[in-house]
Amino acid sequence: EKDKELIRGSWESLGKNKVPHGVIMFSRLFELEPALLNLFHYNTNCSPTQDCLSSPEFLDHVTKVMLVIDAAVSHLDDLHTLEDFLLNLGKKHQAVGVNTQSFVVVGESLLYMLQCSLGQGYTAPLRQAWLNMYSIVVAAMSRGWAK
Ligand code: HEM
Repeated sequence: EKDKELIRGSWESLGKNKVPHGVIMFSRLFELEPALLNLFHYNTNCSPTQDCLSSPEFLDHVTKVMLVIDAAVSHLDDLHTLEDFLLNLGKKHQAVGVNTQSFVVVGESLLYMLQCSLGQGYTAPLRQAWLNMYSIVVAAMSRGWAK
């Protein structure tokens, strides 16, 4: 319950500015794993990375990711209701060539974004609460690979 409070409290302000926070997250992701940029076919041959990050399709994906996080935060009490959606989302990512291992790096990037945005509010319990929720989301998405 404490976890849920921490997540909801921190998302309250972040969730109002999804795109800028999502851009921080994905900038970090491509810094840590630049090869992922190639999976966005509409982003081919753009450099520096910053140019890719401002393309409309890319910002669209950032928005989609943030909306999934938003849905998870709204459904903290009944995350299982997102199971089918997340399993299908996993399948789509398998189809575009994402490796489940990359979700670990996405998680690190999410934490990095939270740290940048929350400053002093980024505490060990808050970090753990987000990791727990993220693990549930990723586990459900990863089940999409099995079938
Ligand atoms: C769709 C890549 C992580 C949510 C897509 C597409 C690509 C992609 C190429 C299809 C084109 C598009 O819609 O823009 C990636 C990569 C990721 C990643 C490389 C990092 C490993 C995530 C995560 C989430 C997410 C973590 C949410 C938690 C979505 C959604 C769609 C999508 C909602 C739209 C699916 C649909 O069309 O129904 N992703 N993605 N993605 N992605 Fe990701």
